[in-house]
Amino acid sequence: MADVEICGVSKTFGKDGGGKNTVHALKDVSLRIPDGSFTTILGPSGCGKSTLLRIIAGLESPSDGTVRIGGKDVTNLPPGKRRISMVFQALALYPHMNVYKNMEFSLKAEGLPKAEIESRIEETARYLEIEDLLERRPDTLSGGQKQRVAIGRAIVRRPEVFLFDEALSNLDEKLKESMRSLLSEMHRSLGRTLIYVTHDQKEALSLSDQVLLMKGGEVQQVASPQVLYEDPVNMFAASFIGSPSINYFSCKELVDILHYTEFGTLRMKASRISESSGDFQSSGLCNSSPARDGAEKTEIETLCAGITAALRPEHFVLSQSETSGGVEAVVDSVSYSGSVVHVAVWSVGVRIVVTLKSAEAPLRGERIWLVPDFSRLMFFDKRTGLRI
Ligand SMILES: Nc1ncnc2c1ncn2[C@@H]1O[C@H](COP(=O)(O)OP(=O)(O)OP(=O)(O)O)[C@@H](O)[C@H]1O
Ligand SMILES: [Mg+2]
Repeated sequence: MADVEICGVSKTFGKDGGGKNTVHALKDVSLRIPDGSFTTILGPSGCGKSTLLRIIAGLESPSDGTVRIGGKDVTNLPPGKRRISMVFQALALYPHMNVYKNMEFSLKAEGLPKAEIESRIEETARYLEIEDLLERRPDTLSGGQKQRVAIGRAIVRRPEVFLFDEALSNLDEKLKESMRSLLSEMHRSLGRTLIYVTHDQKEALSLSDQVLLMKGGEVQQVASPQVLYEDPVNMFAASFIGSPSINYFSCKELVDILHYTEFGTLRMKASRISESSGDFQSSGLCNSSPARDGAEKTEIETLCAGITAALRPEHFVLSQSETSGGVEAVVDSVSYSGSVVHVAVWSVGVRIVVTLKSAEAPLRGERIWLVPDFSRLMFFDKRTGLRI
């Protein structure tokens, strides 16, 4: 059993006691990484991903909080005693040793018998298809070969937990793809816990069972890729996940441009904001019947001033004419992406990006009509960014 539990971990760098040189790299991070899972730590540069991974590895100690691996408190244990293996972005292969010796090094340090070392290296080299490279030195290898050697060096140790920090970021797209399949395969066949740091959302979504999304040293959301995409808890999560990015609308834009007529929903959302912030008068709102006339529309717009709505690019359908209830838009740009195109349009002063099938790609400057799927709308409290 090697689930990893991170409880209330904070990390502050800098010795000037909260002065301008102090960096709060992690703030009260708690997370449980189930045994055998593939968990990704995702977030923008500087959000604390590597710091968290280094704390799990024991290369850095937390200012506060504890780390448990397999139920055992390892907060004060050195890296070598944690049954973990780490692969870094800068692969840190020993340049003066050949591949065999690179893989052998830590096993020798552990004092394993020669026969055991030999059989482990042989087995791992076969698995990673690097048997022919064992005599070569790292500087004679390609990027992908070095990568496999670094992974091999981690595997031979038979750790309970693998840690990867942006380990694929130096590789070209094609090689990255094949290394990702190798990692997935390796994870399935070894059944070990794998924690993978990346700032690449595509990588996180495609590889993991669970994603930890971070910003500014704080956990934003811990969820499966699908939940993170379909059910983000705040505007940061909604924006960070998804490419092209989700479209945001003020309530006024929602009502004006998209002809949104679910006033009951807007009333309900506005009342939820009022409950949390006290900014709005909500009395009687939820019980009102749907709005019909212009005065009520204006009232709704006032009530909804604190709401931001959002809709993903793929939740629009191209329609043939305005009679279908679509919103009129003029195509600003078209970006080809294989089977789909991402089309940026202007509609009454608002720029919206929609994803359409390549076969129905419009031309730049063309007038089109788009039908939004209102059932997929998300609503956020503009002030706090939280989903409502
Ligand atoms: N040894 C250190 N001394 C001072 N500040 C540090 C140190 N290590 C990290 N930091 C700061 O802590 C914050 C988090 O850094 P960290 O390396 O964990 O970010 P990251 O999410 O891994 O970013 P990236 O995606 O760029 O690798 C940053 O503001 C960084 O400058
Ligand atoms: Mg990093």
